[in-house]
Amino acid sequence: MTAKIAIIMGSTSDWSVMESAAETLESLGISYDANVVSAHRTPDRLVAFAKAARAQGYQAIIAGAGGAAHLPGMTAAMTPVPVLGVPIAATVLNGADAMLSIAQMPKGIPVATFAIGQPGAINAALFAAAMLANHDPALAQALDEYRDHQTAEVPEDPRG
Ligand code: RP5
Repeated sequence: MTAKIAIIMGSTSDWSVMESAAETLESLGISYDANVVSAHRTPDRLVAFAKAARAQGYQAIIAGAGGAAHLPGMTAAMTPVPVLGVPIAATVLNGADAMLSIAQMPKGIPVATFAIGQPGAINAALFAAAMLANHDPALAQALDEYRDHQTAEVPEDPRG
């Protein structure tokens, strides 16, 4: 079966963050593919991936990148599939560079930008799930349960 979501990242070093997106999708029963696709080190791989993404059947692409972080934008430039960008803290600027790069896409080619690091990876997965849930009642139910569980985990007493 074709995976619904593609997770891509600029380097194997990004996986420690992006695996949280993968785990979140898994917890919701959403299929995904995960690959390293570097915009500057493997540009041919990027072109091949992005140009095939729609035919591949991906509903969304979660793209993590650090530094100049051109991967999400370059991917979005070559596919109509929605791209959700996750900034990675990979340089002395601690991810602020990647966040601003991803957020500051010029008009006409949108990339959704999430928080730096693991919170962004998890939220990108939840956002992709929410988009899929618009046409998938079982997934909508799973997302409701995810939130219910999250709520139940918060004690009223600050001492736990
Ligand atoms: C970016 O450069 C990657 O997305 C990664 O966040 C960063 C550092 O890559 P490595 O030097 O660890 O391979 O392209």
